[in-house]
Amino acid sequence: MFPDRPACEADAEAIEELVKLMERRQGTRQNLAVPAGFTYLGQFIDHDLTFDPTPVAATQRDPRALVDFRTPRLDLDSVYGFGPAAQPFLYDWKESAPPGTRLLVGHNAVDATDDLPRNQQGRALIGDARNDENVIVAQLHLLFIRFHNAVVDHLVCRGTPDGELFEKARRIVRRHYQWIVVNEFLPKVVGTETANRVLAPAGDGTAPTIRREFFKWQREPFVPVEFSGAAYRFGHSMVRNDYGIKRLPPSGSGRPAIPLFPDLAGFTWLAQEHVIDWERFFELDRRAPQASSAIDTAIAPPLFNLPEGDPKLPRRNLLRGRRLGLPSGQEVACAMHAPALAEEELRVDKTVEPLAREVLLRSTPLWYYILCEAERKGHSEDRGPEGRHLGPVGGRIVAEVLVGLLEGDPSSYLSEEPSWRPGELDTGDDFTMAMLVTFARRAAIGSSRHAARARR
Ligand code: HEM
Repeated sequence: MFPDRPACEADAEAIEELVKLMERRQGTRQNLAVPAGFTYLGQFIDHDLTFDPTPVAATQRDPRALVDFRTPRLDLDSVYGFGPAAQPFLYDWKESAPPGTRLLVGHNAVDATDDLPRNQQGRALIGDARNDENVIVAQLHLLFIRFHNAVVDHLVCRGTPDGELFEKARRIVRRHYQWIVVNEFLPKVVGTETANRVLAPAGDGTAPTIRREFFKWQREPFVPVEFSGAAYRFGHSMVRNDYGIKRLPPSGSGRPAIPLFPDLAGFTWLAQEHVIDWERFFELDRRAPQASSAIDTAIAPPLFNLPEGDPKLPRRNLLRGRRLGLPSGQEVACAMHAPALAEEELRVDKTVEPLAREVLLRSTPLWYYILCEAERKGHSEDRGPEGRHLGPVGGRIVAEVLVGLLEGDPSSYLSEEPSWRPGELDTGDDFTMAMLVTFARRAAIGSSRHAARARR
């Protein structure tokens, strides 16, 4: 987005000091305005858009030479892969009719718990392996599989010809997902004001107005490194230490929360005790779901202790940003004509080694800067101090890229039919994650009946 800006000056030593500072900063705060499910929807969206599997040390310095292993579109290629003809193993050819129109649901071999389809070693057979990284994002992936299957059921009831079922269902699923991304997820994480500035809501039957100032492309849209290497990694700060998984009893607090790692780590069969009641993650009933962690510079301890590779995720983020040659937060703020944060707002205190401190205050790595900005400026009048979202620089990058990728995708609803609103699933003219869960449950019921038959 800002190719002419110089790279951030923080070297490996300064980055190490910053990682230590972040690790010392204990005590994550809750963000009551954003239910915990949106953290993992954020992770799921990331895995739909961008994948750079190269080790940090081998990252190309020239962003134009990077390869994105996902399509830069909100098209759910992480769920559908290249479709039933090219990746038939993702689809159900035997247990539902017509063959190849529904996505395959797996079953745990121990007690037939519904799960992602897996190979004999427990690794998920899905369009993007990262959607099995923890049991929450894995079950979100399963939720989208079920949502697709429920949409197929709905179309069958409406008499849709067999030959049109898959394409019609995929199109409906994609549109509803895209709607949720820009109309529910985006305002929550960037704030309503920034979201509306980039995508001004439409009136009745009219198209929304889009304003992109900084994310531009010439031939085809792409995922900018400022987004994948820094701004969109804001979600790491929304992760909690532990999660309540099961529905709460009518009174009392229910079972104790479960630590994220190692307990909720993925890449293996789903145990019945980890099956999620989605009421704990999205607003499905009158009891509020658990909150996400506030977007700020306090990162939950499990992310300093990852089960695979370098255990410290903040170090991976900061080193990746350095290898990519990302500009500093101050440079990006200047390029966006936003006032830069003051030194004291960067919270690099005197426990940091003086030379490192001096460079970090002058030229702050973009990921850290964006978290500071959320901490300082990410409040809304209507949400109160605990309702944190990204600040002006981070929020604008995230909003312009998500909306821009939708605008630049010739098959998205914003390109094909900008005035489109949900409706074809009989859910009214809005659609939210809570509605998606409710709709997908129809397919879950069908699938449990099938599992019961299989057990008999
Ligand atoms: C338990 C939660 C999560 C874990 C354990 C996790 C872990 C990771 C790891 C290990 C990487 C690769 C780091 C590297 O080598 O550069 C990564 C990348 C990334 N993560 Fe997360 N993440 C989590 C949640 C999230 C969330 C909630 C978001 C956003 C809302 C997010 C956004 C990203 C982005 C944008 C990348 C770069 C992707 C790419 O271009 O390949 N992550 N994450």
